[in-house]
Amino acid sequence: MRVLVTGVAGQLGHDIAEKLAALNIENKGVDIEDFDLTDKQAVLAAIRAYAPTHVIHCAAYTAVDKAEREPGLCAAVNVDGTRHIARACREVSAEMLYFSTDYVFDGFSREEPWEVGDKKDPQNQYGKTKYQGELAVQEALDAYYILRISWVFGKNGHNFVKTMLRLGKENGEVRVVCDQFGAPTYTRDVADIACEILQSKKYGVYHTPNSGCTTWHGFAREIFEAAGLAVAVHPVTTAEYKTPAVRPKNSRLSLSSLTQAGFAPLPHYSDALARYLKEL
Ligand SMILES: NC(=O)c1ccc[n+]([C@@H]2O[C@H](COP(=O)([O-])OP(=O)(O)OC[C@H]3O[C@@H](n4cnc5c(N)ncnc54)[C@H](OP(=O)(O)O)[C@@H]3O)[C@@H](O)[C@H]2O)c1
Repeated sequence: MRVLVTGVAGQLGHDIAEKLAALNIENKGVDIEDFDLTDKQAVLAAIRAYAPTHVIHCAAYTAVDKAEREPGLCAAVNVDGTRHIARACREVSAEMLYFSTDYVFDGFSREEPWEVGDKKDPQNQYGKTKYQGELAVQEALDAYYILRISWVFGKNGHNFVKTMLRLGKENGEVRVVCDQFGAPTYTRDVADIACEILQSKKYGVYHTPNSGCTTWHGFAREIFEAAGLAVAVHPVTTAEYKTPAVRPKNSRLSLSSLTQAGFAPLPHYSDALARYLKEL
């Protein structure tokens, strides 16, 4: 195997490259300094030059609220950029693993965890572009893996856990949304399952968040408890906490496609949080 990892300077790409190295799998990590995803010729040239057997595509426009103001740029990176990668993979006969999100679903019309095949109806610009990215991968390739994840935290980047720790220490209290449900997901655990799936030849779409379910408010309380910080966590509703992009009420992703394919579910998010705080 010879794996190209895009977005290596981000949260997930960083840990995927580390995991590949730990598995002694030849790999190269690239980010925007190496080539811009929106530059079709640059994408093709880089993939031809490295001639990977697999591409793990972690790079993306991930600023969910900003995307409402910059829909064109968000689409250029997440749709066109992903299409460029997928078509270049086709040209060099590489397999592709693409990361997507629970935001491809509408987030409101179902109480249960979303199944892989449920109707796609993204409600914000970022979600729309990530779904179109899925379609671009499926259109270009037969040998692909799509992994949907939610509420990601990793060492190499900004995330909810780091923000809570900072705000908690600064202010001694935080206000956190209490009516959105999902599973916080640790990049190291995603890296483990992604590398396992990548070697399986079991192509298809999977949901790979950590196990368990909470709200942002519940997760914030666990973060402070696990970190040994006395911080008051005040619940607020989505209606009270306005954001430019619509956020799903239900971000829960069913793990059934994963377990039916013979993979173990990811560890519980509380276990992942404890390991993450040690890593920090
Ligand atoms: N974070 C989450 O909660 C979450 C949830 C569900 C799914 N996902 C998906 O998981 C994947 C990894 O997310 P992440 O949190 O690791 O993202 P991240 O930390 O934001 O990293 C993304 C990387 O892509 C780079 N990038 C952006 N535009 C680019 C361009 N035009 N050309 C080349 N590189 C570019 C970014 O560079 P700059 O920093 O310089 O822009 C950054 O290094 C993404 O596909 C994301 O959509 C994330």
